[in-house]
Amino acid sequence: MRQAGRYMPEYRAVRAKMGFLELCKNSDMAAQVTVEAVERLGVDAAIIFADILLILEPLGVGLEFAAGDGPVIHRPVRTAADVDALPQVDAAAPLTFVYDAVRKAKAALKVPLIGFSGAPFTLASYLIEGGGSRNYLHTKQLMYAAPEAWHTLMRRLAQAISSYLNHQIAAGADAVQLFDSWVGALAPEDYRRFVLPHMQSLIAAIIPGTPVIHFGTGTSGLLELMRSAGGDVLGLDWRIRLDTGWQRFGHDVAVQGNLDPAVLLAPLDEIRARVVDVLDQADGRAGHIFNLGHGIFQQTPVDHAIALVDMVKEISSRRSRS
Ligand code: CP3
Repeated sequence: MRQAGRYMPEYRAVRAKMGFLELCKNSDMAAQVTVEAVERLGVDAAIIFADILLILEPLGVGLEFAAGDGPVIHRPVRTAADVDALPQVDAAAPLTFVYDAVRKAKAALKVPLIGFSGAPFTLASYLIEGGGSRNYLHTKQLMYAAPEAWHTLMRRLAQAISSYLNHQIAAGADAVQLFDSWVGALAPEDYRRFVLPHMQSLIAAIIPGTPVIHFGTGTSGLLELMRSAGGDVLGLDWRIRLDTGWQRFGHDVAVQGNLDPAVLLAPLDEIRARVVDVLDQADGRAGHIFNLGHGIFQQTPVDHAIALVDMVKEISSRRSRS
């Protein structure tokens, strides 16, 4: 959940010298930033330093990370004709810098390494909106007015994403995470019709034996559908209780979550109380991965993030002994 990022002085020092895309494309530096964050925090797994939007660049849509404004796609894909005009390229093929970074980080790490990609809906929403969005109106408009073009786009993204993740696995990723960060914008029936089949074919195409973490936010209305989409671990954010969410997924699947990242801005005793609450809800069951429910904020004091990791380790090991 943005383990390496702007809340960390080591990261800001690297970014003072190079742009974000430049950093992503420099496999030595991307591996270094990945490893540094793990060493600083003491977490049990690393996530490769990259971004979900990198796979859109080979489509020639003009990806830019503009300072202060977040990501921008200069030539958004809004109509059936725009979908048809996308170049027929293998979008995963040019991303060799990601695979090199995975290889280099893996060689330097003592903990498992997670590869990742955006999920088709979330990537489609950036492609169509041209950046972040509040109501996803262009996205829903294409979905409703041109369902065939929508499915064509989702099929192409799902194929590119499975190939991208399989390359990361081949380079050494021990698990892969699919970020469907904005899928909570959808009504359940729209998820069933416009997203679910593509998630199923994507997950089925991932090299067997590598755990898949399926993450989304604002998904309280979609949990059963997300479960049927697939994944060995399902993500929960803090808008639903962990015990309720896990029950709805079924206790035969693992869960990841679900501390509100804003809690890291609170005093340490409050953070501790919230950690106890999440662990109480997990109730000592096997298959809970403690994590934030979404990305860490830039304003987070690093010593609070470190203290969180220590608290989770201390409290959960004390419980497993008792
Ligand atoms: O966790 C890690 O250390 C891995 C790195 C990682 C980044 N982005 C680096 C990054 C991961 C896993 C992502 C995923 C990502 N990127 C998502 C899915 C997760 C989520 O938060 O929902 C999304 C939606 C994106 C798209 C994206 N990239 C946005 C919206 C932004 C702007 C965010 C902001 O706070 O400005 C980015 C840029 C980005 N990606 C940064 C980092 C460290 C900050 C860029 C900088 O250094 O200036």
